Amino acid sequence: MKFDTKVVRSGIAPDPTTGAIVPPVYQTATYVLEEVGKDKGFDYTRASNPTRAVLEANLADLDGGKYGTCFASGMAAVDSVMKLFKSGDHIVCSDDVYGGVSRIYNTLLVNYGLSFTYVNSSNSQEVEDALQENTKLIWIETPTNPLLKVTDLDAIGKIAKKHGVLYGVDSTFSTPALLRPLEYGADITMHSTTKYLSGHNQIIGGVLITNDESLNERFKYIQKSVGAVPSPFDCWLTLLGLKTLSLRMQRHCENAQAIAEYLEAHNKIASVTYPGLPSHPQYSIAKEQMSGYSGMISMGLNGGLAAGKTLMNGVTLCSLAESLGAVETMITHPATMTHAEVPKDEREARGLTDGLVRLSVGIEDAEDIIKDLEQALEKV
Ligand SMILES: Cc1ncc(COP(=O)(O)O)c(C=O)c1O
Repeated sequence: MKFDTKVVRSGIAPDPTTGAIVPPVYQTATYVLEEVGKDKGFDYTRASNPTRAVLEANLADLDGGKYGTCFASGMAAVDSVMKLFKSGDHIVCSDDVYGGVSRIYNTLLVNYGLSFTYVNSSNSQEVEDALQENTKLIWIETPTNPLLKVTDLDAIGKIAKKHGVLYGVDSTFSTPALLRPLEYGADITMHSTTKYLSGHNQIIGGVLITNDESLNERFKYIQKSVGAVPSPFDCWLTLLGLKTLSLRMQRHCENAQAIAEYLEAHNKIASVTYPGLPSHPQYSIAKEQMSGYSGMISMGLNGGLAAGKTLMNGVTLCSLAESLGAVETMITHPATMTHAEVPKDEREARGLTDGLVRLSVGIEDAEDIIKDLEQALEKV
């Protein structure tokens, strides 16, 4: 099956009891056994649920994986990866990860004896140089949140294989419509399904996908032991959103390209970062490994923070909001919103200045989005 067909069909069969074309919401905590030791494949919803099972099968197939394990949030998925490790283990991680990821690493998981080294993963030599005897995982985000750094996944895959280290990729910004990290040697692909996959700002969720049977068994064990599972209704809403993933990503990419080009030519904008612009430092890698550049743009304004605030407060169509990857265009100030808990000196060291503005371009008409940005930029 081609990807666009998989989005609509993979893992989805008519409901066995009624023939319903849409998998029902099995909103139940438990299941009645026919007799002692004889169930119908489900015994308790923390462990498994028919609606969740359909979502897991669909998401796994979209990313070219055999197994999917869904969680109540992207962060619960990240945390579940970390539960594979033990005190004394070391992780090498992209330096520009989502602020919630560095927060859980630096303030919670360090207390359990894990250690982390952050590297500019766009430079694969930096990744290899950071490996230690006790390194158990290379964790890559591509493109990163919010600076949109792109990593050469194939190069990192070879390093991970050479050193026998597990390789995980947070592919939230790319989605399987544009990039499938397992094809580049990743052992684990992770998504915050809150974003493009569900696509309508309607749920919080996460998923881990793998081809490795023993990793899948461990993820399922962690899922049922910890219980950070999505509700059946959230799984159903995610499945509904997924049906239009291909169509939405196409529009997100087209709109973002047009808006990035408009911003790059604007005299009030100092810098624009978008993987689809030839000025992006990893444009050639992005072009090679992604089939589109997604909908995220970062920019700095002439006039820094004050100018950025005028823009963010001045938009009327775009929504000033956390999150990304939904049908609505959202504008965000990473320094006070998504990355507020990253210490200021650390933020600035990685180029995340107070003046940075992030745009998650939605699927509205691009001309309307540009008109809104234009009227807000006039106030700057
Ligand atoms: C790249 C990335 N990974 C992980 C997460 C965490 O996902 P969630 O908010 O669903 O817990 C986010 C959230 O913004 C993100 O942008």
